[in-house]
Amino acid sequence: MKKDFLYEGKAKILYQTEQPDRVVAYFKDDATGFDGTKRGKIVDKGVVNASVSAALFKTLEGHGIATHFIERISDRELLFEKLDIILVEVIVRNVAAGSICKRLGLERGQKFEPPLVEFFYKNDELHDPLIRDDHVLLLGLATKNEIEHLKKQALKVNHVLCEVFDKVGITLVDFKLEFGRTKDGTVLLGDEICPDTCRLWDKESGKVLDKDRFRFDMGEVESAYQEVLQRIGVLG
Ligand SMILES: Nc1ncnc2c1ncn2[C@@H]1O[C@H](COP(=O)(O)OP(=O)(O)O)[C@@H](O)[C@H]1O
Ligand SMILES: [Mg+2]
Repeated sequence: MKKDFLYEGKAKILYQTEQPDRVVAYFKDDATGFDGTKRGKIVDKGVVNASVSAALFKTLEGHGIATHFIERISDRELLFEKLDIILVEVIVRNVAAGSICKRLGLERGQKFEPPLVEFFYKNDELHDPLIRDDHVLLLGLATKNEIEHLKKQALKVNHVLCEVFDKVGITLVDFKLEFGRTKDGTVLLGDEICPDTCRLWDKESGKVLDKDRFRFDMGEVESAYQEVLQRIGVLG
């Protein structure tokens, strides 16, 4: 397949295919944390993240959630519908962890019922600030209808993924989603869903199975990623 370089991000490289509405995402082993200030590599992370993302996008499609995923074309490459990414990171939280604990003085592990949906402005220079619906409108990032769609879809995704992870003994603590528009304006779920973008805790031991192991130098980073892949793999 002919591929032209489009863009290199922190975790993936995007290539344009011959078809104008399709891109290939190549998943790298590069890892970043704390707003890009911590950098490193996690061996075979790209393979795990491509596989886990592919499996989860397929499952979500099976539940009627429209995503950009078309097919996996190699161990590290996924074929996606090309999107104009909406610069709003949609975070869903089932359990308190990470930035929200500091921000609101919450205890790590506190359950959120119902789950909490937050928006962050996807802007590295501004350090991805937390924003409200009004800011999304003010900045022209999305329309009112799109905002409602993002919230609704994020909660649907949460519902499906909680069940998927629960079946394999993992608590889905929180995760980040990105959405984007196709040429005709249809909003699809985009980007990736993997141990880089989710907090995943083993249900029995509480063991952290996600990028926090890298962020906080907890060790066993590679094996935790492999563990998630194996457990998700069981689902076929
Ligand atoms: N289907 C898609 N079409 C176009 N861009 C996409 C698609 N899915 C994800 N992206 C974008 O690809 C870029 C590269 O991904 P990544 O390396 O994770 O970037 P970042 O450094 O912004 O996290 C990101 O800007 C992401 O929003
Ligand atoms: Mg990214």
